[in-house]
Amino acid sequence: MTQPPKVAVLGSINMDLVCTTERRPEPGETVLGTGFAMVPGGKGANQAIAARRSDAEVEFLGAVGRDPFAAQLRQVLTDAGVGGARLRSLPGSSGVATIVVERSGENTIIVTPGANARFTELDADDLRVVADADILLCQLEIPVETVAAAARRARAHGTLVLLNPSPVRELPAELWRDIDVAVVNSGEAERLGAALAAVPHVITTRGGAGADYRGPDGVAQFPAPRVRVVDTTGAGDAFTGALAAAWHRGPERALPWACAAGALAATELGASASIPDAAAIARLLGDAAHGSDR
Ligand code: RIB
Repeated sequence: MTQPPKVAVLGSINMDLVCTTERRPEPGETVLGTGFAMVPGGKGANQAIAARRSDAEVEFLGAVGRDPFAAQLRQVLTDAGVGGARLRSLPGSSGVATIVVERSGENTIIVTPGANARFTELDADDLRVVADADILLCQLEIPVETVAAAARRARAHGTLVLLNPSPVRELPAELWRDIDVAVVNSGEAERLGAALAAVPHVITTRGGAGADYRGPDGVAQFPAPRVRVVDTTGAGDAFTGALAAAWHRGPERALPWACAAGALAATELGASASIPDAAAIARLLGDAAHGSDR
């Protein structure tokens, strides 16, 4: 049994306010919803929980506000077994995502960043966590400067940098130079275009169609298992967190693992609530060998 990989996740944590409805309203229209749930989310927290449920050792670096959501957001990390000692409490509100899920499972999301946007500085303990990790996993729901500072530290200490550049935006050239692995959806791939060419490993997720991989040894396509879709919110995060946890097994094994995690996450409502554990992923893959090399 080898040591589980150490993953430092730097990113957002939000309270997701989820409304289900038959269909989204048109501009100016009001429709009745069919249900409501408050579920902790945020791309950073979702990916941290996904990596943990795929058996990585995970530390989360992020920020909550000083409001009634903060305690619940802390608790979800604790319950998942994610290290939350580097979760700071900043004045003002926590991040909130307003999510509308249609009957088809498709969603629209408005993120109000709150404390995530005020997470502008890494202290010496944060930087030590990054340097000690095997993988630094980041997204773009916190300031790019914070991500760039962590990536710089990671690169200097041989920590692999995995970036999910979502929500997509322009990135400074020096940050691109520090990225080892990028996980993008097809819209992000199109938007980032040539900038991705310099990244050694690029994974493009294609929802129910699986994922494409491009790396130093060539390209490959990985199908996603077919599932009954209830809510796609957080499916990409489940994919990315599981990928980070399995990356040490190589793309040929990590990609099917991540595709299965993403597929399972789409079968239930709520981002963090729907993230599968390693046993469920292995079952879906019929991966009897899972565990033998961990
Ligand atoms: O990727 C899904 C996540 O995006 C949600 O949990 C929401 O909080 C937003 O960050």
